[in-house]
Amino acid sequence: MSTATDERSPSGLRARLLVRKPFPSTEGSGLKKVLGALDLTSLGVGAIIGTGIFVITGAAAAKYAGPGIILSFLFAGLACAFAALAYAEVASMIPASGSAYTYAYTAFGELVAWIIGWVLILEYVVATAAVAIGWSGYFVKILHNLGLELPAMWVNAPGTAPGAFINLPAILIALAVTFVLIRGIRESVNTNTLFVVVKVLVLVMFIALTMGHINPGNWDPFLPNGFGGVMTGAATIFFAFIGFDAVSNAAEETKNPQRDLPIGILVSLGICSAFYIVVGAIFTGIIPQKLYPELINNAAPLAFALEYIGKGWAAAILSVGAVAGITSVLVVMLMGMPRIFFAMARDGLMPKVFASVHPRFGTPHVTTILTGVAVAVLAGLTPISAVAELANIGTLFAFIVVAIGAWVLRYTRPDWKRGFRIPFIPVVVVGTILSCGYLIISLPQVTIQRFFIWMGIGLVVYFLYGIKHSVLGNSAR
Ligand code: ALA
Repeated sequence: MSTATDERSPSGLRARLLVRKPFPSTEGSGLKKVLGALDLTSLGVGAIIGTGIFVITGAAAAKYAGPGIILSFLFAGLACAFAALAYAEVASMIPASGSAYTYAYTAFGELVAWIIGWVLILEYVVATAAVAIGWSGYFVKILHNLGLELPAMWVNAPGTAPGAFINLPAILIALAVTFVLIRGIRESVNTNTLFVVVKVLVLVMFIALTMGHINPGNWDPFLPNGFGGVMTGAATIFFAFIGFDAVSNAAEETKNPQRDLPIGILVSLGICSAFYIVVGAIFTGIIPQKLYPELINNAAPLAFALEYIGKGWAAAILSVGAVAGITSVLVVMLMGMPRIFFAMARDGLMPKVFASVHPRFGTPHVTTILTGVAVAVLAGLTPISAVAELANIGTLFAFIVVAIGAWVLRYTRPDWKRGFRIPFIPVVVVGTILSCGYLIISLPQVTIQRFFIWMGIGLVVYFLYGIKHSVLGNSAR
């Protein structure tokens, strides 16, 4: 290792920014190794199927893609499949908390790692907030079915409905899940498995009950807003795919990570993609396009579809399943986020207090609480589209970095043992860059601007704090 790491000389600064992690040691992290392949697949499905399919699909079809939402799901699924292969290889090689952050640290060095970590913080917090808002929509629907009407001012963020003030159900669910997670990962995973089963069952019920009601005439025109509509739709419903990377975050708590991580990531993504394409086809096959304006602000569009075909009872069951299913997304997202924070703090890029593990529960309680509170505040006060789009851009960016990282590591760390190897790696990496890049530029300008503002703030924080406290950087002096 070069000793020229003096921050004041340009070459020292460069060496410092590019300092790369050796093979990450997870010894003594304090996290318990309790998860197997089935747990991870369930964790993946738990993280993936949620607000995206139950809520965002409606507005994405109505506003942008029309029946072409089927193609939007296909395209977004393809982009994720490319990225999933990269995640599977890297996660099977580097079984440490921190996901894309840790991979970037190993492949590209500290500066890129910091940027990714900072982007992941944004991604997880805003995505989880969007999920909590989706949860609130179906929860309010259940209360409505029971004859209980909550005042609009307490169940909507400002500006999203007349007289809206705060989304209280979204805040309360975020805080409740945070509390459960502090108690311990094993208990959380058990609850999660039950919720995953419930949400898969209600989606199967949706498909079985609606299939016979498809009117192919509703698919005409198939692309009401052309190919552009399909791509904007894909960039929007990409949200529905976020989450499989959370599986890799549980690496340090997995019994046999080299075998189980790739299985968990790829199988869960495959199951969810199949569901989405089928549900997207049926949904647009039963709702006439003249009703699309009603879908744009509908917080429970799949329930709307069931009511439309006269199955109000099934809409009520679906709403309960959606609430349970979306809760499982919250569990996984709120579990993944603190572990990234945790990894960054352990590396000295964030204050050490964030790396502390609860002495009795064995969970990163400080970061869990911090994340939970941030999510609750955002969920209570922002509209779902703003947070979901910001989550998408952060995730897409991370996918690109991980894919390039997987390729770089083939050359820089050829000797590290890989439990899974990406087939046709150049095709997969270039495919990830092109597909995710195209989705990024299909997002609204304002989302792209917000994303770069967040990155700018991150760079300031790094140069004021991280670079001075980095454990790796300081040890290289
Ligand atoms: N993919 C997750 C969802 O749809 C974030 O809720």
